Amino acid sequence: MNDAATQPAPPQAPPVKRTPLIAGNWKMNFDHLQAIAFVQKLAWSLKDAQHNYGEVEVAVFPPFTDLRSVQTLLSADKLPVALGAQDVSPHESGAYTGDVSASMLKKLDTRYIIVGHSERRGGHGENDETVGLKARAAANAGMVPVICVGETAADLEEHGAAAIPVQQLTAALTHLAADAEIVIAYEPVWAIGSGDPATPEQAEEVGRALREVLRAERGDAVADRTRILYGGSGASQNVASYMKQPNLDGALVGGASLKVDEFSRIAQFTKHVTV
Ligand code: 13P
Repeated sequence: MNDAATQPAPPQAPPVKRTPLIAGNWKMNFDHLQAIAFVQKLAWSLKDAQHNYGEVEVAVFPPFTDLRSVQTLLSADKLPVALGAQDVSPHESGAYTGDVSASMLKKLDTRYIIVGHSERRGGHGENDETVGLKARAAANAGMVPVICVGETAADLEEHGAAAIPVQQLTAALTHLAADAEIVIAYEPVWAIGSGDPATPEQAEEVGRALREVLRAERGDAVADRTRILYGGSGASQNVASYMKQPNLDGALVGGASLKVDEFSRIAQFTKHVTV
C-alpha cells in the first residue's frame, strides 16, 4: 500500500457563495417624479416582506434624468437599494455632446453601469470595442460594469447559444484590468421583451460557458466570484428556475421591473425556489 492511499483526503474548498443580484433595467421609462414614487413603493414592499438585502441584492437602473432624485431618496431614507445607470461615455470629459461621464455617475453614488445592452449594440451601432471601453471607463471610476452579451435568433440558429456571448465577453475583457469587478448579463436578444424567455437549461449552458471564459482569462478566484445574470422576459413565475442553476446568480429584468409588486416578488425569489 503506498502512502497516498493512507493519507486523509485534503479538505474540499467550500462552494463559492455569490450574492444574487436582482436588477431592474427601466430603459426609457419613468420621469424623476415617477421614479421617486416607484422606489418608495418598492422599499415599502420589500420592508413588509422583511427582505434581506444582504442575501439578495436589489438594484434599479433609472434613466439619467432620474438618477439624482433616486440617489437623494436612497440616501435620505437610508434605503439599501443599489443604484445603476444604463450607459456611460467611454471618454472622461470634453466635447462629447449628449454623453455622460463615469465620474459624473460616480458622484451620484452609482454602483453599477450597464454596458453593451443589445438595444445599444443594435440601435446605436455599439461594437465590442466601444462596449469594452465603456466597461473600462466604469471600472476605472470605481463602479461595476454590467456587461451584456447575447445572441440574436439568427446567431442561435447559425452558431448555437454560447458562441456569440463568449466572443462578446472575451472582447470586453481585453479592455479591463485583471482585477476589475464586473457583472455579466446573458440576455439572448430574441428573448428580450418577447415573452419567450430562454429555457433555464439554455441559460445555464451559456452561463457555464461564460464562467469558463473567466476561468481561462482571469483564473479561478475571478471566475468563482463573478455574478452572471439572466435577462430576457424574466418574471416572478420564471426567476426561481434560473436561480436554481449553478452558474446563474441573478436577473436583469426589463418590463417586469416597472411593476412594483412584480419586481418585489422577483427580488423575493428565495421564497419560491424549490430545490
Ligand atoms: P425584458 O425583461 O423586458 O425582456 O427586458 C430584458 C432586458 O433587456 C433587461 O436589460
